[in-house]
Amino acid sequence: IFNSLAQTPPMGWNSWNKFGCNVSEDLIKEMADAMVESGMKDAGYEYIVIDDCWQVGRDSTGNIIPDPKHFPHGMKALADYIHSRGLKLGIYSCAGSYTCQGRPGSRGYQFQDARQYAAWGIDYLKYDWCSNEGQNAQAAYQTMSDAIKQSGRPIVFSICEWGENQPWKWGKGIGHMWRVTPDIRDCFQCKFDWGGVGVLDIIDIMADLYPYAGPGHWNDAEMLEIGNGGMTKDEYITHFSMWCMLATPLMAGNDLRKMDAETKEILTNKEVISVNQDKLGQQARRFMDMGEKEIWAKPLANGELAVCFLNRTETTWHLNYDWHKQTIYFADQVNIHKKEYTIRDLWKHQNIGTTQANTVCDIPPHGVLMVRLSEK
Ligand code: DGJ
Repeated sequence: IFNSLAQTPPMGWNSWNKFGCNVSEDLIKEMADAMVESGMKDAGYEYIVIDDCWQVGRDSTGNIIPDPKHFPHGMKALADYIHSRGLKLGIYSCAGSYTCQGRPGSRGYQFQDARQYAAWGIDYLKYDWCSNEGQNAQAAYQTMSDAIKQSGRPIVFSICEWGENQPWKWGKGIGHMWRVTPDIRDCFQCKFDWGGVGVLDIIDIMADLYPYAGPGHWNDAEMLEIGNGGMTKDEYITHFSMWCMLATPLMAGNDLRKMDAETKEILTNKEVISVNQDKLGQQARRFMDMGEKEIWAKPLANGELAVCFLNRTETTWHLNYDWHKQTIYFADQVNIHKKEYTIRDLWKHQNIGTTQANTVCDIPPHGVLMVRLSEK
């Protein structure tokens, strides 16, 4: 069963970016309700993931204990509630003895914990790398992977060692996804001394990793910041467009109970999401890099192609693009020289011409033009 999961990038919500350690069963239930009522579930979001801080200790037989104050009815009851809403529940642990917030980790308890998660009805595990005590990363993640497989429950396994040990080289078969960077920050272009990364930094790190992604095994570009307030609307559109181009998990990180229209419109854009969820499972490649103006392309099933023009600059890009001038290197699947393609703007939700004519439009600073090409 393990190998049949995550055939397209997992979609859901995670508590960390917005709520940090302030997690509780009330919050998680409210988020599940909001996921259903806001249209997020309908758009494909499925997993509700509780990140760090739900656990407080172990009992005398080593069983992990959820915080009785914030999760008074326990995890089984919470999982039942989430399932009753047609959603799935994710949980968090760590390969070290302690989590990043000093809660008990799973080192030495991997099989016991996995059995417990399965008994509770957990569907997803994010597994962190703090206080790893010099373990070999591949071996540490393999152990928890074995434990999950032995539990007999279909549990998506999210490797979170921040790209430190090149998990893209060994993660396939061990986990369904692996983080490739330190923690995301709610900013477009920013590098922090201590390692936090913004949207453009992550895109650049993801760029070289396309050979490692495919159905059941994804590069994880980090959870989304859309709706958290640190970026402009165009920047959030770029954040979402590129995460979809990169075939990376879509884990919302905002307060789903209080989404403004703009945030909802971005997170639930089904045409853009369908690029992310495309069955071929290919990650986009940076196919032209004209200074700070880039063209990314992602082959889709049915001989279609998603193309994203990314304007990294602070000025408008007056695009006038001749589809016949460049050699599209997906010529095996998409051949612009031989066939005519309809071009659909996935944010405007309208067709804007065909590949027989130049595409002319203005792309705002830090913005994108994201299109789908289908044979005419
Ligand atoms: C580090 C991870 O990278 C974050 O996503 C989050 O899970 C925190 N740890 C929680 O402590």
